Amino acid sequence: MDEIAKYNVERWQALAQANAVFTRPHLDLDKDSARKYLDPQRRLGEVTGQDVLCLAAGGGQQSVAFALLGANVTVVDISEAQLRRDAEAASHYNVNLNLLQGDMRDLLHLGEKSFDIVWHPYSLNFVPDARVVFREIARVLRVGGIYHFTCANPFFIGLGGTDWNGNGYTLRLPYVDGSEITYQDESWIYGGENPDEPIRKCKEYRHTLSTLVNGLIEQGFSVLNLSELNYGTPDFEAEPGTPEHLTSIAPPWLNFWATYRPML
Ligand SMILES: C[S@@+](CC[C@H](N)C(=O)[O-])C[C@H]1O[C@@H](n2cnc3c(N)ncnc32)[C@H](O)[C@@H]1O
Repeated sequence: MDEIAKYNVERWQALAQANAVFTRPHLDLDKDSARKYLDPQRRLGEVTGQDVLCLAAGGGQQSVAFALLGANVTVVDISEAQLRRDAEAASHYNVNLNLLQGDMRDLLHLGEKSFDIVWHPYSLNFVPDARVVFREIARVLRVGGIYHFTCANPFFIGLGGTDWNGNGYTLRLPYVDGSEITYQDESWIYGGENPDEPIRKCKEYRHTLSTLVNGLIEQGFSVLNLSELNYGTPDFEAEPGTPEHLTSIAPPWLNFWATYRPML
């Protein structure tokens, strides 16, 4: 395990202990709410019987939602603590999940062309080289399969409420692909609870827009849709420095839908 993997194992262990939002399993889903949660715009077709890889998606949220919709679900996550949440959620719903501890940069333990969907919630920015991950995903996806991922908006990664300068939010970090960015977690990550100080830092890596788009193209993906995500509904009247205000001005996340269609 390299330093990047070790850092993430330790961080997600601490986040799970602190009951951070992304470590809380969803235990109140039914088929309708599972579909709305995963796919509010109804871009996915029928998923019953489909082989779905929830990549770096531990925590007991997306995995059980797909399982409730009748998919065959594998979860790969580096954190044992997060996979334990999946196991708890699976037993709550009495569904099966194939839970594997592993690194998104190395999926060699998974068979070639073994998935119809790769569902990759926010986590690509926890590793410095997005292209390595895209290459692994291209190997395990079937032709025509769907790759969905959420990542940091490369223009605003690392920008926080404390960057409000009375007039705007100050961009100060170099726009360099793979550059390390360390910043304070926003308090909403802990759902209003106060964790111990050492957890309140986050180490990520910038993936520039050209790396994301060209990286997908190089591996044979076609982009079907790209959207910017805010923290709730944009609210330009919100108090400056709050997540609502910051993210109305600088949407923090991008959501990509792609399909694997290599030129044969
Ligand atoms: C924000 S959570 C995303 C999943 C969560 N289910 C959700 O609802 O957002 C990020 C996940 O990425 C995992 N992770 C971090 N680095 C990883 C790596 N290199 N390989 C695989 N998983 C990783 C963490 O353990 C964590 O469970």
